[in-house]
Amino acid sequence: MSIRHFLTLRDLSTAELNSIIQSAITMKAAHRENTQQPIFAGKVLAMIFEKSSTRTRVSFEAGMAQLGGDSLFLSPTDTQLGRGEPIQDSARVISRMVDIVMIRTFGHDNIEQFAKYSAVPVINALTDQYHPCQLLADIQTFVEHRGSITGKTVAWIGDGNNMCNSWINAAIMLNFRLNIACPADYQPDSTLLEEAGDSVLLTTDPVSAVTGADLVTTDVFTSMGQESEQDDRLSRFSRYQVNHDLMEHAEDNALFMHCLPAHRGEEVSAELLEDESVSVVWDEAENRLHAQKALMAFLLDASL
Ligand code: CP
Ligand code: NVA
Repeated sequence: MSIRHFLTLRDLSTAELNSIIQSAITMKAAHRENTQQPIFAGKVLAMIFEKSSTRTRVSFEAGMAQLGGDSLFLSPTDTQLGRGEPIQDSARVISRMVDIVMIRTFGHDNIEQFAKYSAVPVINALTDQYHPCQLLADIQTFVEHRGSITGKTVAWIGDGNNMCNSWINAAIMLNFRLNIACPADYQPDSTLLEEAGDSVLLTTDPVSAVTGADLVTTDVFTSMGQESEQDDRLSRFSRYQVNHDLMEHAEDNALFMHCLPAHRGEEVSAELLEDESVSVVWDEAENRLHAQKALMAFLLDASL
């Protein structure tokens, strides 16, 4: 059987995506009841981080340990990858020694290159273009709070970044409406937008994007690697803060999500982020743990 990678959500079929979400919900309950089995016993996850992380590192490392496996944290400051050893050589070496690899890097082509030469499954733990692991947790969180996301309306406010591109992939696969409001120079991937067709509405107006939304979501204005643009971005995105005033235009029971880390007073007001009648960001963060355990079980073909 050929190796399955998870470089974008689209590496899964819709049925596989839904099944991973259901497994994540089951695994969350088992975690709470302390009835999980060591299904990853003897398995090793290599975690290659070329950018910072709190949630991704902790969730993958804890998830592997909870299910009986081990993980290795590999940083470019300690490995030969950071000293210029080619990706295709690193991929062939590392994947002969571990069972699964998770990578957080800059260009998406880096992870595609690694996957091409890897003998084991490779998971995208964020590139400049996509953050599919976060979408697994986000969809799980929506399903837990509101049921199926199919047919619902999601509003993305802010930068057309890696999270926004991943939401477009989710809209294509799960058949919900996605209204995106971002400044004209900060739009998401144009090829993806074309593919999404009528399921995505692109505007520069946050109010029209949020109108009728069941879920409103955003992310930082300045992603990792864009730090030199921070001042410029802060002024360009000043109209795009999600706060209680903006949420007034959404459906009455609309949820707020943010992948975190959040910058209070920039893309989200402190009041909205902390308003747990609307904001489900802490559930969303926790669900990274459960969703990635379910993803790894799928990729390792480990029975639950
Ligand atoms: N949301 C997310 O990926 O967080 P970290 O950068 O802390 O991993
Ligand atoms: N768009 C952000 C997400 C961080 C989890 C970034 O890439 O920095």
